[in-house]
Amino acid sequence: MAKAVAAKHEVEELRDKLRHHEYLYYVLDQPEISDAAYDRLMKRLAELEAAHPELITPDSPTVRVGGTPRAGFQTVQHARPMLSLDNAFSYETLADFDRRVRQGIGREKIEYIAEHKFDGLSISLQYENGGLARGVTRGDGRTGEDVTPNVKTIRSIPLRVELAALKKLKLPPRFEVRGEVLMTRKAFEAMNRQQEESGKKIFVNPRNAAAGSVRVLDPSITARRRLEFFAYYLLVDGEVPFAKHSDSLEALKQLRFRASEHWKLCDGVEEVFKYCDAWEPKREELPYEIDGVVIKVNSLGIQRELGYTAKAPRWAIAYKYPARQETTVVNDIRVQVGRTGTLTPVAVLEPVQVGGVTVSRSTLHNMDEIDRLGLQIGDTVLIERAGEVIPHVLKVTKEGENRRPFRMPKNCPECGGAVHRAEDEVAYRCVNAACPAKRKESLLHFASRHAMDINGLGDKIVDQLVDKGMVKDIADLYTLKLDDVAELERMGEKSAQNLIDQIAASKKHTLARLIYALGIRMVGERTGQLLAEHFSSLDELAVANEEQLFEVTEVGPKVAAAIAEFFSESANQKIIKKLDKAGVRPTAEKRVIKSQKFAGKSFVFTGGLAHRSREEAGQLVMQHGAKVSGSVSKKTDYVVVGTDPGSKYDKAKELGVPVLTEPEFEKLLGLK
Ligand code: IVH
Repeated sequence: MAKAVAAKHEVEELRDKLRHHEYLYYVLDQPEISDAAYDRLMKRLAELEAAHPELITPDSPTVRVGGTPRAGFQTVQHARPMLSLDNAFSYETLADFDRRVRQGIGREKIEYIAEHKFDGLSISLQYENGGLARGVTRGDGRTGEDVTPNVKTIRSIPLRVELAALKKLKLPPRFEVRGEVLMTRKAFEAMNRQQEESGKKIFVNPRNAAAGSVRVLDPSITARRRLEFFAYYLLVDGEVPFAKHSDSLEALKQLRFRASEHWKLCDGVEEVFKYCDAWEPKREELPYEIDGVVIKVNSLGIQRELGYTAKAPRWAIAYKYPARQETTVVNDIRVQVGRTGTLTPVAVLEPVQVGGVTVSRSTLHNMDEIDRLGLQIGDTVLIERAGEVIPHVLKVTKEGENRRPFRMPKNCPECGGAVHRAEDEVAYRCVNAACPAKRKESLLHFASRHAMDINGLGDKIVDQLVDKGMVKDIADLYTLKLDDVAELERMGEKSAQNLIDQIAASKKHTLARLIYALGIRMVGERTGQLLAEHFSSLDELAVANEEQLFEVTEVGPKVAAAIAEFFSESANQKIIKKLDKAGVRPTAEKRVIKSQKFAGKSFVFTGGLAHRSREEAGQLVMQHGAKVSGSVSKKTDYVVVGTDPGSKYDKAKELGVPVLTEPEFEKLLGLK
């Protein structure tokens, strides 16, 4: 019995901690613990729930990992229709909208809220008793699909909202939040790269990827796709419970949703124009895509007066930025050989301006994609450019008169080696291990900005280094001599010295970068990071078996197999040895332990500290053996309170946990 009580207590504590860290990481973007530490908490919770199934609740953070696939979706009726918005493609149309609003209610000037128009999939989240009860897609606006298990895997969606927070906002425990599920550009690119490598379906843009990731019957797929949720609408019994839309946005933030960001209160339509103007160029810098600006009348009273048409509210409109799409002719289709030997077809386009950038190439991913598009050389196509992403072909708009089909070459265009297509793969690969294209691509990848960041090692230099036989693998870079480099074309004494310095400096980069730089199939930047957090050195990673690799977060069987395969290759083992000999041996940063004076003690920090960040304060106590927790429980030994403390302070007082001010904390640590 005592054991069951202890388990219940630990389960609750773990859930509190996980909720807190999910909020810090996924909503505020300010993590306080590593992914590996988060995983350990999640693993422990899953173990306890497996041992004590009676403790499982539908809002437990363990549901974030997905669960079992279902047979089909249920259709659900929306409490209030999820309407769409009228679109404006020009400022004139926006001005007309403003005029209609002003005339409709007889006012000179209207207060609007301008918000980003997130390019994703709209979702309604229904909370009951403060817990997430249902997630439903927009569907046709009146009925949608029940995707509850899927949305529960999205970490920025709270599974539970604190009843105290609701009370403070005078909201009941039953309410609805609407918003947009989307995928960041980075997650989209990484996902498509993996899909391409493993021969799976390529998504055309982040919006389709987000929609495709939510509307799948197997929620564990949703869990693996990194999705975000932005909330922009709050309803109680189908009505907005505030006097202003801006109050809703503030309330959503208070309830710990990732609310619509960068919104602005605009006094009159002129300020709306300014907002739209300002974000048009800046939208490229956002981590996710927006396709316009949504303009809403701020006052709910005015919104009610204006009402709705059959299709859309009269109090809101979407201003759409011009699409970055264009039509052009595919003059040729060429093949590029990647560092893993994958042959990627690339369309050579008649150069065309798309959103201010000249585009002359576009990736076609693989042969299946060409077949799907029904594309032949000479056809006219519609292309789209999204942010920095290489443009892609959306569809064939006109078949060319003298069109001719493209065929994958039987031999590698770089080395003449045999090209092979594995049975269960879409990708064609050059099987020659010594293919110079692979070598060049591996070197370029190794030197790239997010890998070892060796500025100056561009394709012209790499071509020469490989063609002259000076560099056979990545490790050879570290034995290059200044004299050899200075003799290359386009190389002066000074740039040669620069390159040598840059190569030497790269030895100091992190283990995460090095793992990514090795160019292991299916191991991107993020996986590199996760592996570096799990293993303390490259040697340790190199000897890990598939089972051990599988223990790392987000590493599935395929990735584990790809990593094991890489390190079992004798040529790669040699490279690892050569790198080590050259002094490229980063280790994961280990925490410095200064004493055990707080061993077994648990600290919680709340509010702003004057002399250090909470994270730094946490590091300080951890150096003396303490644990830092995100939530207060009876087991907490100290709660350190800064300015504007949160509910943790109240909880500490309630439970009678010792509370320290910053000076008291400094004294305890012997800093004063
Ligand atoms: S408000 C009744 N705000 O755009 C008003 N919608 O074209 C409900 N969308 O179906 C919508 N960002 O999926 C609103 N900041 C935002 C939005 C937004 C994206 C989507 C939403 C809607 C569609 C209409």
